[in-house]
Amino acid sequence: MPPRITASEADALRRGAADVLAANSKCGRDAATGIDYAYVCPSAVGGYPWQWFWDSCFHAIALSHLDPAAARRELRTLWAAQNPDGFIPHVIHWGAGLLLPPAHLQCRLSWRPRHSALVQPPVLAQAALKVAERGGDDDFLTEALDRCKRYYLWLRDHRDPDADGLISCITPYETGMDHLPAYDEALGAPNPSRLGLQIRLRLLDAANLFLGRNYRLSTIFDRGRFNVEDVLFNCLYAEGLRCVARLCDMAGDEPERDSFSRLADRAEQAILDRCFHEEDGAFWPLSDPGGRPLRTLTLSSLAPLLLDSLPPERAEAIVRQLRDPQRFWPDYPVPSVAMTEPSFRPNERFLIWRGPVWINTNWMLVRGLRKHGFNGEAGELARRTIDLTLKSGFREFYNPHTGEGYGAKNFGWSTLVLDLL
Ligand code: GLC
Repeated sequence: MPPRITASEADALRRGAADVLAANSKCGRDAATGIDYAYVCPSAVGGYPWQWFWDSCFHAIALSHLDPAAARRELRTLWAAQNPDGFIPHVIHWGAGLLLPPAHLQCRLSWRPRHSALVQPPVLAQAALKVAERGGDDDFLTEALDRCKRYYLWLRDHRDPDADGLISCITPYETGMDHLPAYDEALGAPNPSRLGLQIRLRLLDAANLFLGRNYRLSTIFDRGRFNVEDVLFNCLYAEGLRCVARLCDMAGDEPERDSFSRLADRAEQAILDRCFHEEDGAFWPLSDPGGRPLRTLTLSSLAPLLLDSLPPERAEAIVRQLRDPQRFWPDYPVPSVAMTEPSFRPNERFLIWRGPVWINTNWMLVRGLRKHGFNGEAGELARRTIDLTLKSGFREFYNPHTGEGYGAKNFGWSTLVLDLL
């Protein structure tokens, strides 16, 4: 059920979103590679000038409602950075001058790093499918299918060292939820101070770069310093595989469609079997060695709503948690951390993902609720998400109690509300 909003509210959202996406647009020719790029950065005024992987996918989804040709350009620029083996980096430094970007620890050592060596939550096929469904360019489907197949197969082949069907992240930055308290324990930093957590993360980056022999994945996994199978990341991976299957279907490629559907089934089954804990009645991210559950309740635990094969009783259990006013349902849901957790900080701005609400994760949960028939709840969450942007503008994140906007202004992926209308 779509949220109840007036025509003038919808109009204001469309105009506001179009302005944000236009203000954050970057284009040019990258001198180092000769590639012509055109993408939307997360926030031109908020210190995010580059192309980020999952932001870009969300921008393409929002753009598909406003300007499908720009949505196609966004994704084409993203996969222009795809390596021949299928990997796509989490940040691409298009147009960076000779001294830029500041050599940072998330890039392989080279005299001039063009992109990071990390990944981000795999929402590429979700975005490609949305854009392909808008039609308008016959080559796009063929291209999208080729890029997506290679990307998801790269994840399967390089990021599942224990071959259990779940993808491993080598730093919290790969989960897209940088400082989410669910990962504190895996970082060896329970109840960290702000500075303490930053230091841990930088040391991990340095370890991945230097001790990991310039981001050699086999070495990084052997050393086992941080290896987390995140719930939200893996749910998006499974959903992404389903979208690749759907793209195959659109292209009339039945054998490949069946093979990607089987991969999606396998990923879903692995999440259901390995991440769900009967006693706790909850899904937890797992940390190696040994698949230790990371028992801090965050929105990562709600993400299995995205799975086709989630049994109805587990879907109901998740929705009970989500709708619980003590845990995830304040005036402006959904806080990134359950309000019952000692680490919950509704107005924390220095560390991110430790309490405030984000539009992209609300967008996922609305879709998950709809998938399992919780239409009333989906409509209400969509309405309150839209209220956040009407009240406080397109901000990076928001206070779950007051709706106050925090972080970067004119934040690109908050325009995803267009996909909720
Ligand atoms: C922050 C977020 C990450 C996002 C990036 C750019 O690092 O945690 O998910 O991709 O900013 O917006």
